[in-house]
Amino acid sequence: MTIAINTETNVRDIPIADVQIRFRLRTPKEEKVRELAESIKTLGLLNPITIDNQNFLVCGYHRLSAYKLLGYETIPAITKDYSLVYSELGEIDENLKVSSLSKIEIAEHIVRREELYSELGMRLERGISSKEGFISTDQLASESGISNRAYRLKRQPARIVEDVRDQLRDTKFAEVLMDMVKLSQQTPEIQRSICKLLISGKRTTFKKALVDAQILDYRKNKDYKFDFNLKERWGRIPNSIMRFSKANSKIQKLCDVIHHDEDIQWLKREGINFGGSKIPVYQMAAEHAEFLITYYTPENGIVLDSFMGRATIGTAALVHGRKFVGFDITKKFVDKTRNVFDTEFNKDDFQLINNDSILLEEFKDYKDHFDAVCFDPPYVKAERYSDNEKDLSNMTSEEYMLKMREHFKQLYRLIKKSDYKQKKFFPVICKVGTVRDASKGIFDMDSEFQSAAKEAGFVLWDKVFNELYNIWGGVGYERNYENKYVQKSHETNLVFCKF
Ligand SMILES: C[S@@+](CC[C@H](N)C(=O)[O-])C[C@H]1O[C@@H](n2cnc3c(N)ncnc32)[C@H](O)[C@@H]1O
Repeated sequence: MTIAINTETNVRDIPIADVQIRFRLRTPKEEKVRELAESIKTLGLLNPITIDNQNFLVCGYHRLSAYKLLGYETIPAITKDYSLVYSELGEIDENLKVSSLSKIEIAEHIVRREELYSELGMRLERGISSKEGFISTDQLASESGISNRAYRLKRQPARIVEDVRDQLRDTKFAEVLMDMVKLSQQTPEIQRSICKLLISGKRTTFKKALVDAQILDYRKNKDYKFDFNLKERWGRIPNSIMRFSKANSKIQKLCDVIHHDEDIQWLKREGINFGGSKIPVYQMAAEHAEFLITYYTPENGIVLDSFMGRATIGTAALVHGRKFVGFDITKKFVDKTRNVFDTEFNKDDFQLINNDSILLEEFKDYKDHFDAVCFDPPYVKAERYSDNEKDLSNMTSEEYMLKMREHFKQLYRLIKKSDYKQKKFFPVICKVGTVRDASKGIFDMDSEFQSAAKEAGFVLWDKVFNELYNIWGGVGYERNYENKYVQKSHETNLVFCKF
């Protein structure tokens, strides 16, 4: 659809009576015509008028009128051949009536039509709302039977960069006007990125491609960048509901070595459903510990787990280049962990302490010492790790929370200060759940721990739920229904910071 306008010009005197006026030309201002006539009388005509090859006036209406006023019979005129422009305009108008044009093509036609009117000197300049005889956007819109706003929207896709228009014009994406308008409002780089996602089939809807292209661009342009892909590292983009499995990772294998001991595999659980039977000792999924360590804690930092059990968190910390301090009141867990750690890790990188951790007495002279704390405390009355009266799992919920409140005070002293502006975070992470206590209802560790941590001065910085694969779910569902509560299939990971 390219046109060649004959720009060859020649000035010749033509009879004024032969000059034709097209319908849209403006009415000359009398005063201006008189002034011009005076000047022409003394200085002559400085600029010839322009006519097309059918003698229609293109520009110089005031000059022509002044000549008429002076009673001259001829006027110097430049003739330009606009026949091709008119035929193209006709072609465009025909095309626009055809409904098979995509939104991109409609926009291109509209813009081209405006360009042609400008060539003819008939298009109202931008910024001027109306001028008699000139074609305004309002007029173009009403000619098409639509509002000014709808006309502008239809014209907007022409602002999409040419190569993107070329690639998308014949696709289904070019059928949706508002998508193409949105596309035109993006930077050329984002437009190309959206186009690539759509053409390659990597994204099937415009909306998804737009969001992804914007995210890609945001990542590229922000001043701090990762040298890794979050999704690849954690198997998904971390979000508030995570699912961790006991995947066959190096860490899981190490944890299984610690765990693989008849003596520490089982514990007693008392209650209506389990009687005095033995149940397997709960062990956190290695993948879960790995996520908490690698996502939240600083590299090379010292991580404390004050309720380490068989040290799933400790194993993840050491494998991922952190140092580790672990406490547990149950000797056999500490001993077994030590056996494995001594052969697997550098002895300077970990410290295992078999003691009650509530007061963290071994660190009583320290302050702002740990880079992170990550712990998975016992659930009240749900488990029994030892007969030790200081074992939290032997306490009532009230006693338990008194201890925890004290513990959070110690943690507040020992954790380093975070700095939000400098993006330095030293988290205290705890994984908690709910315990049901007959007519007392739910003991919700989430809210209890939040209250204890806040009382100690912490800020709740993040909260993630992890989905549980509950082996008892299939057993208890009828009882759950009878009692009007549902199976608890999640735990909560609370992340606190000291600012
Ligand atoms: C839920 S388990 C930790 C499990 C651990 N995350 C793992 O994957 O093996 C809680 C641990 O807290 C320990 N514990 C209970 N009361 C304690 C206390 N007062 N001081 C230190 N450890 C305690 C128990 O012996 C138990 O090993």
